[in-house]
Amino acid sequence: MTRRLPTATHPSTALVTGASSGIGAELAAALAARGCDVVLVARRRDRLDALARRLSGLGVRAHALPCDLTDEAARRELPAAVADLGLEVSILCNGAGVGAAGDFVTVPEEHRTAVLRLNVEATVDLCGRFVPPMVRRGSGAVLTVCSLLSFLPMPRMATYAASKAALLSFTEALHAELRPHGVAVTALCPGTVPTEFMDLAGLGPQVGRMPAWALDDARRVAERGLDALARNRRVVVPSALYRASAASARVLPHAALLGLLRRGSPFPARWPGATAAEARDAGALPVP
Ligand SMILES: NC(=O)c1ccc[n+]([C@@H]2O[C@H](COP(=O)([O-])OP(=O)(O)OC[C@H]3O[C@@H](n4cnc5c(N)ncnc54)[C@H](OP(=O)(O)O)[C@@H]3O)[C@@H](O)[C@H]2O)c1
Repeated sequence: MTRRLPTATHPSTALVTGASSGIGAELAAALAARGCDVVLVARRRDRLDALARRLSGLGVRAHALPCDLTDEAARRELPAAVADLGLEVSILCNGAGVGAAGDFVTVPEEHRTAVLRLNVEATVDLCGRFVPPMVRRGSGAVLTVCSLLSFLPMPRMATYAASKAALLSFTEALHAELRPHGVAVTALCPGTVPTEFMDLAGLGPQVGRMPAWALDDARRVAERGLDALARNRRVVVPSALYRASAASARVLPHAALLGLLRRGSPFPARWPGATAAEARDAGALPVP
């Protein structure tokens, strides 16, 4: 299986989405350190350019391709843009993702939709664009960043958890389909990682109160994900604490879990952009 990731004799090109920060940036850096050319995708061009400059210093080719992945037309142009660079994607890392915390009724429509468009639609679409050539070549690899919340429905993160559950299901099925075709597929399921994601999702204060031992490190998560991909592991949860949580979520009855999660939710009752009055008007209610 290691032949699917870059070696000195089999250099590869990885397209990494979400490469402007957090886990995606660490995936790109780890791939470059393993000798892989990288194509960096996200919206913030300045971040991608800076990372590309840094990774070029490792002796690989590193290119920024800024793209809003919620824009279907922009996604459609990516394969041609990669070909124009003279590169062929042999590793696809789906790292881009957003979340929105708060009772479902308090989250504005555009945020709910963005979660689904980016986390699910864009990931499935990019697989549709970059996997068929891998199958034709008989080699390739796909790493999709899912989540601990892929394993359990989560009140106050309902849409995000649903998006990540869909991604896990998709990725596991793809793993089975593509294995005979020489394409490795792995779902990387981190727990809580202190990245910009948390602030954007409105979870900064919650993360700030968590003990260090309960947090995953973005670099370590990326390394674990790539090691698992090299072995074509179907699913990897990169820390012992969260592996235990994922295993519990798989076996415990959801009826009991949901009650506990609703009453002891670590997430805020209202989307952080909503005032208390707006949340009340939207129908958010205190937990009885
Ligand atoms: N942090 C955690 O605790 C945690 C836990 C489990 C799973 N995850 C997952 O890990 C992945 C990476 O998240 P992270 O924690 O590293 O957060 P992050 O630092 O906020 O990274 C998110 C990335 O997605 C990109 N992105 C957002 N909207 C985009 C769009 N419309 N088009 C293109 N790119 C877009 C962002 O770049 P631009 O803003 O420049 O576009 C950024 O590079 C996500 O899929 C997330 O769901 C995170």
